[in-house]
Amino acid sequence: MGAAPSTNEPAGPPAQQHGDHDTARQIPRRNFLAWLSGAGVVGSLVAGVFSTFVFMKPRVTYGQPNRFLIGHPEEFPSGARVAIDTKRVCIVREGNKVAAISTTCTHLGCIVAPSQTGFQCPCHGSQFDVDGNVTGGPAPKALAWFQVSLTPSGELEVDKDNEIQTGTYLSV
Ligand code: FES
Repeated sequence: MGAAPSTNEPAGPPAQQHGDHDTARQIPRRNFLAWLSGAGVVGSLVAGVFSTFVFMKPRVTYGQPNRFLIGHPEEFPSGARVAIDTKRVCIVREGNKVAAISTTCTHLGCIVAPSQTGFQCPCHGSQFDVDGNVTGGPAPKALAWFQVSLTPSGELEVDKDNEIQTGTYLSV
């Protein structure tokens, strides 16, 4: 027969003591977790609002305007052929007539330069006459002519959205 367990053994710390000890350790941890989840929620809200505003802001770059002023007619003497590379256009003045011819090569889009006989493309050798008609090289079609108008202030305005028939000048 085995000995019965002694009832005089120390029972260890009372249960209440265990509970108090755990509670004391858990409260700061609970506070920390509550703070952490609160910070997470606030952080998510801030990130959400920020990304919504970033998303709503248009990221389109519109580039150069296709309608622009080039100066007064007297700035272009008769016989002038002034290439404006930043606008990809050449302003031509013949007597009292003004025109704007595209300097974008119709082959692969290089900028053509005025030459003795018209225009010359430096990339693959396309050549154009003074009206922009192809006279040599791989360019498939003539250079475009753009609408030129006189503003109320007396300045010339080129509208590259408005392509006109070759040989159409503005009288000034
Ligand atoms: S881009 Fe002008 S000839 Fe090719």
